[in-house]
Amino acid sequence: MKNRLIAPSILSADFIHLGDEIKKLEEAGVTMLHLDIMDGHFVPNLTFGPPVVKQIRKFTDVVLDTHLMIENPEQWIDTYAEAGSDIITVHAEACTHLHRTLNYIKQLGKKAAVSLNPSTHPLEVEYVLKYVDMVLVMSVNPGFSGQTYIADIDKKIAYFDELRKKENYKYLIEVDGGVNERNIGKLALLGVDIFVMGSAFFKNSNYRQTVKDIRKLI
Ligand code: DX5
Ligand code: ZN
Repeated sequence: MKNRLIAPSILSADFIHLGDEIKKLEEAGVTMLHLDIMDGHFVPNLTFGPPVVKQIRKFTDVVLDTHLMIENPEQWIDTYAEAGSDIITVHAEACTHLHRTLNYIKQLGKKAAVSLNPSTHPLEVEYVLKYVDMVLVMSVNPGFSGQTYIADIDKKIAYFDELRKKENYKYLIEVDGGVNERNIGKLALLGVDIFVMGSAFFKNSNYRQTVKDIRKLI
């Protein structure tokens, strides 16, 4: 069995009690948190920024998976690295010099990931695949939690899985958007390694039970 991971997106957590939420997630066996950073430009929504990431870093040792949905992400790599991110994900659509930006993330000793919006063709990132630690396949248009998984994305996930086998690439595949207990088993079969879950994870306050139930499905 592959070592598949659930990465709850704290965007759907209770922000007033974020510390307690993180503690509960750790106790439930969660080892990676997905942090959705939105700037109101690249996506039509605003969330939180470096000071919050820094506070979370001080509070927990779990892997911090930082999903930058921002314009000019290259200007923010140092800041998020210093704030304590472990994985820094940039969108292919937001980077003019994607190769440079991904390699810069790696130079800082962080894991580098590239993300694609649903409308972006996988060939757009073909020339960076040998450098990246992870490909984040967006299965909704980024900006909001609680959206429905776009069925066409199955094909894109399968493409990245087949390609890594063929070319012996080492990247992990992460899926983000509309993942729930009904589609997660199929996504695992398609080759997904890391499952970001927002609304479907946090809808039940018994996180230990949710983790247990989902682990059975993947
Ligand atoms: C969407 C974000 C997601 C979001 C997922 O733009 O990138 O990480 O929080 O939420 P759900 O799982 O509810 O689609
Ligand atoms: Zn995300």
